[in-house]
Amino acid sequence: MNVVVIGSGGREHALAYKISESPILSNLYIIPGNPGTAKCGTNINLSINDFTSIGIFCKNKEIDFAVVGSEAPLVAGLSDYLRDKGIKVFGPSSSAARIESEKSFAKKIMVENGVPTAQYREFTSNKYGGAKKYLQETTYPCVLKADGLAAGKGVLICEDLQTALKGLDDLFLQKKYGSACDKIIVEEFLTGEEASIFAITDGENFICLPSSQDHKRIGENDTGLNTGGMGAYSPAPVVTDEILEEIKTKIIRPVLAVMRESGNKFVGCLYAGLMITNEGPKAIEFNCRFGDPETQAVLPLLNGDFLKLLYSAANGNLDKEAVTYNGGCSICVVASSKGYPEEYKKGFEIKGLNNITDPSIIVYHAGIKQDGGKIITNGGRVLGVTAFTLNKDYQSVKSIVYQNLSKISFEGMYYRRDIAHRVLKK
Ligand code: AMP
Ligand code: GLY
Repeated sequence: MNVVVIGSGGREHALAYKISESPILSNLYIIPGNPGTAKCGTNINLSINDFTSIGIFCKNKEIDFAVVGSEAPLVAGLSDYLRDKGIKVFGPSSSAARIESEKSFAKKIMVENGVPTAQYREFTSNKYGGAKKYLQETTYPCVLKADGLAAGKGVLICEDLQTALKGLDDLFLQKKYGSACDKIIVEEFLTGEEASIFAITDGENFICLPSSQDHKRIGENDTGLNTGGMGAYSPAPVVTDEILEEIKTKIIRPVLAVMRESGNKFVGCLYAGLMITNEGPKAIEFNCRFGDPETQAVLPLLNGDFLKLLYSAANGNLDKEAVTYNGGCSICVVASSKGYPEEYKKGFEIKGLNNITDPSIIVYHAGIKQDGGKIITNGGRVLGVTAFTLNKDYQSVKSIVYQNLSKISFEGMYYRRDIAHRVLKK
């Protein structure tokens, strides 16, 4: 099978790495990829927004199967475009990707179908007065969200009215995230522990990969600004077998059913961002693709043929036995550029990558590029180091991951030293 992976982050490196192990793979290409994916296949320097060139490339290389990593091309319709050209695609149609790109769409589906989630109200930007009045009456803390895509940054937890009103101004008056702020959601604040579940689905049947837990805040002890994710571990013991069963029956299955029945069949990875509350699991949000960096923690725990799993989903006959969980655990720690998630500088040489030889470590490249003979930083989240074992010894995995991270350096390199703190406290 000739396969193309679309994207250039740590998640796409993890996808390409796992796909490259498949016995049914002939050729693997990554558009545009990064120096890490270049070791799994061939990088092709095209923009992920240039559908026409991607289509021509797929035809020339007789691509059978495309795996789309990130949300932006999915929302923009890349899956639909490639499917029209006869290529099988892992990734939802543009209309199904709205489950991530329009929070109000996801909330409506959940509420109408009894899926447990936070109570909410939505307001369009011409209803500033109504939104303000509601904020004056609601209970605190509350959560303000831009309806559209904002790279994980459009969510504001408001402790009090003053913060909420400032947030409302940022969203509605300053349009801080552009058209993503045309509508906002005001949500009840949920308490509990968060977890991520990836459901791989052909639109009807699904399997859940091992659970994981992301660390969204930039600072240790979960402080500071929200980021795309500074580290993850898998599995997340907060998702017990009983809770997983509830997640499947009360959240994943009904959402897939209503998507299908409403003409928005969801094929790909439905990522449920969950809060495990005292009342059981509640859905915080859905994403229309694999999580980053959770994927970098989850995939090393899979035995079997990951490519076969993804292809079977795209082909409408999900192979539930294609992969199995190996019983182990993993921790992925992200190293970022100084200043991320706000302004940061790029172009610093990354040293020490060749010092990593431990077979229980994978260094996933993210914001990295090759510059002549050098490997340099090229983004906010630069790389993710994952350590994994075949047992549940999170403590030793943590020591291994941090020992290896200390061998890598670049100017301004920052990483949290407390990834997996919740599981280690248990
Ligand atoms: P989202 O982009 O919707 O996943 O939100 C980003 C982060 O904000 C989540 O991972 C949570 O940590 C937090 N968050 C979002 N909605 C809520 C909520 N209703 N209650 C508590 N925390 C929330
Ligand atoms: N790690 C959070 C996300 O991928 O959205």
